[in-house]
Amino acid sequence: MKYLHWDETLFKDAEVFDADYLPDILLHRETQLNQLASNMKPALRGLTPINCVCLGPPATGKTTAVKLILNELKEYCLTAYVNCRNANTKHQIFSEIYRCVSGAVVRRGLSFNRLYVKLMDMLDNVLVYVWTI
Ligand SMILES: Nc1ncnc2c1ncn2[C@@H]1O[C@H](COP(=O)(O)OP(=O)(O)OP(=O)(O)O)[C@@H](O)[C@H]1O
Ligand SMILES: [Mg+2]
Repeated sequence: MKYLHWDETLFKDAEVFDADYLPDILLHRETQLNQLASNMKPALRGLTPINCVCLGPPATGKTTAVKLILNELKEYCLTAYVNCRNANTKHQIFSEIYRCVSGAVVRRGLSFNRLYVKLMDMLDNVLVYVWTI
């Protein structure tokens, strides 16, 4: 046959194209992973971690690095990953954080202030941000 048959593929592992795919090893990012981990480390002792901003060119592993650290952190504290392309207002972002940490959907019409207070009650007033830009 001249072209690919329907069950043939050019790719060894097409799963790597999934938006949720996480590589086992993030190549050449040890410094960044160590920096993120050390900023988050206070959470392991119940202290407030340090907010972070991860800057860099597209597709250089910023989101992947954050997700790998979040995966480790979630054994010790509540974590939430929010894609701000989808949740792009203050209310939507905090609703998504609330959904991730409580498992419940925010009631329609709940004001931002009440949502914020509900969330902070649940988090003992500690909320740490890691932004990727
Ligand atoms: N250092 C790396 N080692 C292995 N895979 C990597 C590395 N950097 C990026 N990738 C892979 O490239 C893809 C894009 O990575 P990622 O989404 O983390 O980049 P990003 O810096 O967040 O990009 P953007 O700025 O577009 O948000 C992912 O599939 C990720 O697994
Ligand atoms: Mg990203």
